[in-house]
Amino acid sequence: VVVVALVLANPAKYGALVVLIFQNSALVLLMRSSRTASVANGERRYLTTTAVVCMEFLKLVASLAILWIQEGSLERVGKLLHTEIVINYTSTLVMAIPSLLYVLQNNLLYIAVANLEPGTYQVTYQLKILTTVIFSVAMFGTRISMIKAASLALLIVGVALVQTAALPAAPEATPAPDAPTTAPQARLLGLFTVICACFTSGFAGVYFEKILKGRGKQTTAPWSIWIKNIQFAMFGIVLGLAAVVTRDGDLVAQHGFFQGYNSTVAAVIFFQGLGGLTVALVVKYADSIVKGYAASVSIVVSSSLSIWLFGNVPSGQFVLGAAFVIAAVYLYSLPAADERPSSPPAPRS
Ligand code: C5P
Repeated sequence: VVVVALVLANPAKYGALVVLIFQNSALVLLMRSSRTASVANGERRYLTTTAVVCMEFLKLVASLAILWIQEGSLERVGKLLHTEIVINYTSTLVMAIPSLLYVLQNNLLYIAVANLEPGTYQVTYQLKILTTVIFSVAMFGTRISMIKAASLALLIVGVALVQTAALPAAPEATPAPDAPTTAPQARLLGLFTVICACFTSGFAGVYFEKILKGRGKQTTAPWSIWIKNIQFAMFGIVLGLAAVVTRDGDLVAQHGFFQGYNSTVAAVIFFQGLGGLTVALVVKYADSIVKGYAASVSIVVSSSLSIWLFGNVPSGQFVLGAAFVIAAVYLYSLPAADERPSSPPAPRS
């Protein structure tokens, strides 16, 4: 009831947060199953570099469609794109930085997810909240009160408890024939890539927030977020294609761009694209630290759902961890008047 009331009160902010929580939960499971499901003899596994390009293309098309609905005519959309992307080209160029970082991040996460168990991956990736806070303090001058610092610590401990409680007892008991190896070297690679992704996530999130909330009328207009997403996706497509050519050029030449695609891969691409657009909304109407909290809540939601679906009894550790996460969210949501002195208030929709 509380969630519905919040969504009705401020659909852009809380609606986006709710979508992000469910999107995060679905994505990690889908990504993992798309990379580890056994591949029938003679079939090929899909190339993650091409999936990243498709996701950016999907975001581009979706953002154009939303802009068309908002503006009411293609002619107006064309004029807007010409002004904002071509004439005002510096605003397009600044999007190259977060776009480059996210393309790198999306590729790193595919490596991480294939080399770590989902629990370890999710807990380690939660460190992105800390990197986000560090960059937010550095770039926005955000002041973190003692309560918020305590909330962050509680959040990390809570997620770690939930995740380690949710780990299956004997994950290595019957490995699938082509299941990812969890040999020490693979684990190390997985940990290294996920930690790099924490840094790109923190910096790109705060940088993107700064662009979306920047002063000036063009950044607060209703279409601005969709123009930013279009600029973002344009770079994403170009950089993503460069990754396809350099990493998988030979394979694409031999077996085609869409080799190994199936319904799970399509779902991964859809959920990643949806996530990208939702991230932009959450960062604009809330902030990049709240985005991190949404990811943590989604871990509790997905673990609770699987306990409920499979009829398991939650362990004491799980309940304690979930309570920590909920308490952390509550503590973080307590108003603190003295924060973010230098950033303008987020526009309300
Ligand atoms: O884990 P994190 O919150 O950093 O992930 C953000 C995700 O949002 C990235 O996968 C990034 O590609 C995506 N994103 C996007 N479009 C935006 C902003 C973020 O696809 N405009």
